Amino acid sequence: MYAGKFITLEGIDGAGKSTQLAYLSALLQQKQQTVVVTREPGGTALGERLRALLLDQSSAMHPETEALLMFAARREHIDKVIVPALQDGSWVVSDRFTDASFAYQGGGRQIDREKLALLEQWVQGGLQPDLTLFFDVPIELGLQRVSAMKTPDRFEQERQDFFRRVRDAYLARACEFPQRIHIIDARQPVNAVKAEVASTIETLCAGSRL
Ligand code: TYD
Repeated sequence: MYAGKFITLEGIDGAGKSTQLAYLSALLQQKQQTVVVTREPGGTALGERLRALLLDQSSAMHPETEALLMFAARREHIDKVIVPALQDGSWVVSDRFTDASFAYQGGGRQIDREKLALLEQWVQGGLQPDLTLFFDVPIELGLQRVSAMKTPDRFEQERQDFFRRVRDAYLARACEFPQRIHIIDARQPVNAVKAEVASTIETLCAGSRL
């Protein structure tokens, strides 16, 4: 549909996405691709303001308000960043996208999947990532990594059963879209995870004859 490719990275908090995001963007640049690295919620001026609200520990809100704000930020992100970059032939690498809404708001907050699917259709139309890398870790390991790294945000302060539902929802989504979502065992040492990222990207590039 577009000259560029759209890749998203997903995982529970502490899965090691940030390291792999930096690695992936360097890898694509080596292949002479123009890469736009972005994130959700965020990626635009308005989206970053919504992100600050959504992650702030003191922003209590209804779960559906949370879902609507995620999709509002996404609408802006698609319009201002993702589609223009793909039209220009750039590769877009986004730290999270809609699978995170199905995992966190659908699984974690237990919002009806049908409602999320309506928002997905409304906000995205036919736009879907070409490839999603889901970095899978047991929740105990993810939470351990997060608590060692920084002060928890509004999501990271949730309890284990919340993250268990988030991970289960990600895995269910990966079963639903096996062609698009590639599960990577992120318990492995960083270099082994990088090697798996590289081989998955090679397959996508081979399909695009890069
Ligand atoms: P994250 O991407 O983990 O950033 P950081 O590494 O800076 O903590 O944080 C974003 C949080 O937003 C994460 O906890 C998941 C949550 N989120 C949702 O709940 N729904 C969504 O649709 C998206 C995109 C993110």
